[in-house]
Amino acid sequence: MKLVKLLANLGYGSRKEVQRLIRAGAVTDATGRSLSENEVPPHDQIRFRGEELDPPAPLVIMLNKPDGYTCSTEDPGDTIYDLLPPRFALRNPGLNPVGRLDKDTTGLILMTDDGKLLHKIIHPKSGCLKVYQVQLDRPLEGHEGELFSSGTLVLNSETRPLLPAKLQVLGEKEALVTLHEGRYHQVRRMFAAAGNHVLSLKRISIGGLRLPTDLEEGEWFELDADAQKSIFSEMIEDSAESSA
Ligand code: URA
Repeated sequence: MKLVKLLANLGYGSRKEVQRLIRAGAVTDATGRSLSENEVPPHDQIRFRGEELDPPAPLVIMLNKPDGYTCSTEDPGDTIYDLLPPRFALRNPGLNPVGRLDKDTTGLILMTDDGKLLHKIIHPKSGCLKVYQVQLDRPLEGHEGELFSSGTLVLNSETRPLLPAKLQVLGEKEALVTLHEGRYHQVRRMFAAAGNHVLSLKRISIGGLRLPTDLEEGEWFELDADAQKSIFSEMIEDSAESSA
């Protein structure tokens, strides 16, 4: 790929702006020598105003989503894109969230520009389990686990039953819920169907990938190849609660 296109695709500016920046000497190799438009050294050897370039596509990042941020730029207010460098919103291919979290749900969200990977993770058939930590308004009554695992629970205004989900009770008003799918407001609506109300919801894992305890809300990092593989290391087939 030509240097101008590479930088424009990474969001450093329009092609014209990037061309101007290259001509002004803002783009160098690792030794500080200005690059011409016709040179394209290896990605890790290119510097923009002395800084290493952002990672190339395909890129996968993990973000610890804070409360109050939406996952879509079409929604008003703060979005998860505001937590990333502004350049990231201008990348081509663009970064998309891998499934959405509600505005008031916190925790693990993946973002990628790799459409195939995105679909593989969110498709129930790929067996990528998502685990949510839930704080409830009222004490659990004891029937919720059976209801969620039944495979017959139909949410309000839907006709297709939910795939079986697993409930692990952590306390009187606290539990983990493991899902194979990601329907709209699913965990909140499941507890509403059980006569309870979710006070707070946090996603703590996707497949074999956990939210690191030291990743503060609003922080993110790039997933390396091993971390990406670990997403698929806990498939339904491996799970004692297999339901597929
Ligand atoms: N279930 C919900 O209710 N909300 C989320 O954000 C994710 C799962």
